[in-house]
Amino acid sequence: MKKALAMILALMMVLSLAACGNGDNPQNSTAGGESKAPVETQNSNEGGEVANKDKPLVWFNRQPSNSSTGELDMDAMNFNKDTYYVGFDANQGAELQGQMILDYITAHIDEIDRNGDGVIGYVLAIGDIGHNDSIARTRGVRKALDTAVEENGAIKSDPVGMNADGSATAVKDGKLTIGGKEYTVRELASQEMKNSAGATWDAATAGNTITTWVSTFGDQIDVVASNNDGMGMAMFNAWSNENKVPTFGYDANSDAVEAIANGYGGTISQHADVQAYLTLRVLRNALDGVDIDTGIGTADDAGNVLSDDVYKYDDSQRSYYALNVAVTADNYKDFLDATVPYAPVSNQLDSTAHPTKNVWLNIYNAADNFLSATYQPLLQKYDDILNLNVEYIGGDGQTEANITNRLGNPSQYDAFAINMVKTDNSASYTSLLEG
Ligand code: BGC
Repeated sequence: MKKALAMILALMMVLSLAACGNGDNPQNSTAGGESKAPVETQNSNEGGEVANKDKPLVWFNRQPSNSSTGELDMDAMNFNKDTYYVGFDANQGAELQGQMILDYITAHIDEIDRNGDGVIGYVLAIGDIGHNDSIARTRGVRKALDTAVEENGAIKSDPVGMNADGSATAVKDGKLTIGGKEYTVRELASQEMKNSAGATWDAATAGNTITTWVSTFGDQIDVVASNNDGMGMAMFNAWSNENKVPTFGYDANSDAVEAIANGYGGTISQHADVQAYLTLRVLRNALDGVDIDTGIGTADDAGNVLSDDVYKYDDSQRSYYALNVAVTADNYKDFLDATVPYAPVSNQLDSTAHPTKNVWLNIYNAADNFLSATYQPLLQKYDDILNLNVEYIGGDGQTEANITNRLGNPSQYDAFAINMVKTDNSASYTSLLEG
């Protein structure tokens, strides 16, 4: 009886402590429902002896850069000595996506041209015209299908809108020679999928747009390409599945991989399992005060290590880039669950040597398919493995303020992981840490 009473009392204390932590910030809503208030830990930043501006910071998924020129924002990447970016190799992935589509066309050349007019027509859903990764993917598709037009040494990535007669200036009609025969390829239409509230990469917009495209082009559309699976699957579900038109995306979200069995053409894994690990790992290393390569290129004390076929590090850009893999009918069965931690880095860290630390992390748009269905579930598994107590904040995908408003008290955290709405906006966050 006494024991039970003691347990109830202990439980009440824990609950009231947790409530205090959250009580400071009435706006604390989390992405994906996991709510973790900062905990008081033995080695945590008690008394705030580390200034916020000196705490480890990782940018992820949206690389600080100028959204018009693509130039990297090195001030943001060098915010302090423990600042890094984690993403994936956009150019290598974009080439793979273009090649995957070209390979599919080549292998299916006898049936790809649905209306037999000698023109292979495709439509393209663009995610965010100011996002380097989206731009790279648009370029990759255009390059592989020979529809690319260069300007000042770079392939144009602007959407064409409608291009029924091939007169658009951002693309040209391409020529592909397959089996000794020449085919024309035309980008019939492309558009940035932005909703009326301003959210980009918007799947619902893509689902509506395919219907408009089909009403104009009908069976001239032979291939559907998308900068990501969220938009790709919306178009597949709205039209191309039923009409047996190959549709290609990017991200290898579980639903898209599963759809390959039903005719989704293919996708690219950007190795989110490696990226989510790196996102939290660089923070863990900085907090432990160990070499940044620990558990990355060099095995840690639990045996976690990555081989260089899954990532690369560019010191001059302070950036880790995961490498991409094409997922098609040939290998999709190996990718059916996108939320499984990568085995070589899934060993639990010892909590004495690596005590719990508090991390503030935001997802720029809680409705983004890739980030909410693939990336965040992975982060939530790695946070346990790495003994990090992460508070997840889900943004609305439209304004930075919606997110920064919920970083009212940075002193409560030991480290920060940031996913900006717009790649130009690093200062919206760093100013809060400097203040
Ligand atoms: C993913 C997209 C996602 C975007 C968000 C990209 O890397 O491929 O699916 O919408 O990140 O920034």
